[in-house]
Amino acid sequence: MSSVKRRTSGRTSGTRTLLVAALVVGTALLGGPATAAPQDTLHELASAQGRYFGSATDNPELPDAAYAAVLGSEFGQITPGNSMKWDTTEPAQNRFDFTKGDVVTDFARQHDQTVRGHTLVWHSQLPSWVGQLPPAEVEAAMTHHITEQATHYRGSVSAWDVVNEPFNEDGTYRTSPFHTAMGSDYIATALRAAHAADPEAELYLNDYNIEGLGAKSDAMYALASELLAEGVPLDGVGMQAHLAVQYGFPYEMRANMQRFADLGLDVAVTELDVRMQLPADAAKVATQSSYYQRVTEACLAVERCVGITVWDFTDRYSWVPGTFPGQGAANLYDEDLLPKPALAAVRTALGAEDDGGEGALKVLYRNSDSSAGDNQIKPGLQLVNTGTTAISLPAVTVRYWFSGERGAPAYSTWCDWSPLGCATVTHRVVAASTPKAGADHHLDVGFTGGTLAPGASTGEIQLRLNKTDWSDFDESDDYSRTGGSSYADAPRIAVYMGGELVRGIEP
Ligand code: XIL
Repeated sequence: MSSVKRRTSGRTSGTRTLLVAALVVGTALLGGPATAAPQDTLHELASAQGRYFGSATDNPELPDAAYAAVLGSEFGQITPGNSMKWDTTEPAQNRFDFTKGDVVTDFARQHDQTVRGHTLVWHSQLPSWVGQLPPAEVEAAMTHHITEQATHYRGSVSAWDVVNEPFNEDGTYRTSPFHTAMGSDYIATALRAAHAADPEAELYLNDYNIEGLGAKSDAMYALASELLAEGVPLDGVGMQAHLAVQYGFPYEMRANMQRFADLGLDVAVTELDVRMQLPADAAKVATQSSYYQRVTEACLAVERCVGITVWDFTDRYSWVPGTFPGQGAANLYDEDLLPKPALAAVRTALGAEDDGGEGALKVLYRNSDSSAGDNQIKPGLQLVNTGTTAISLPAVTVRYWFSGERGAPAYSTWCDWSPLGCATVTHRVVAASTPKAGADHHLDVGFTGGTLAPGASTGEIQLRLNKTDWSDFDESDDYSRTGGSSYADAPRIAVYMGGELVRGIEP
């Protein structure tokens, strides 16, 4: 089926939001007044590029008013995380229950959002009765399930993930009751049944690890080509995009999307998140931001990439920690619903010009050590958010350069006082990768948690370091040091956000 289709872009303009400011007032740890200029929502930015920007959501989280406020305003499309899966909608044969899914489609209607239906046929979250049927009865049960569900949601769901995750990693077909009963024909049968029940809905095949070129995406490509050649109603391919910083970015994502587009199919990023091994640190956060940005750029570079859905937008409700023990921090907003650097990266990729979050940190310094020749260095630091959006502190690193001179190459570092609690402050000495006079080592200061509201300061963080052999320093030529004993701007102390220099001058 050739598919010249309407774009499911949902709202194109509408209410601008002061949401970020409102949330900051409500939840900032460190106080300070918030005044944010109105800015375009993610969906408004995406719509300006002919795309939608959406999020998964789930029934248990919808009563969370702060969460629902972001979901309803930033996103133009939603996908139910669980409530349209087979075990929920037909837990016993021919006993259908659409109550939970209806809550999601109602929310979408109230907020002028489109809905991606997820999912009609999948090996997982499948009630046990399906697997217990004699193979000869599986096709009728599958067709009946699709017909009832797609008919129920006609007019409320703009696209269906008709078949989810049909492939193994090597590109062979995954075993499931459907594959066992019908071979790979179950896919064409499912698409035809969905089209008969809702001829208006866009019909997708959806899978993970098909974002880049590789064996699994080759298999999807071969399947899609075959289905189109046979005239089976297929409109698009969904790429889940559950990425992880430790596994690298998918190989040639744009080219891979483009080859599906060249078949005459739409492409959608359907479940984007970027997880990491916890705890988060500046390097992982930087990689995560770049992955979110590159996915967004890849989609925008492919005309038929119709939109991006994140697999929920906040760490508060991520599936990651429950499924990948030890991993998390995968979403655009943190657990307090405050924006993370990845959000700014996505907004930048979508063409936003208005982000005050990045680069809006300033560092104040004072020297708490009157002697330049003793065995300790004692910088006092304060960070101030001069921007209009809250800053997530774990993304921030502050760097103070000094020279170690002769003596032991090992150091001890200390946090003597911080209103944040010294347990929140990380500190270590690192040998400079390109040592310079007065700057062959640096003290790196970071944070394990917390956010800095617009206008707020961390307060004074008193730091101290010494060589493990307690030999003296000569601080007089140290790059970042001044003699000032009260807090002042410190251009020779660098601030990095997500690994990117945002303040100060490196030696
Ligand atoms: C996940 C949900 O987010 C979890 O709440 C549930 O426990 C398991 O499923 N690929 C998919 C989604 O297609 O349906 C999965 O959703 C995540 C992986």
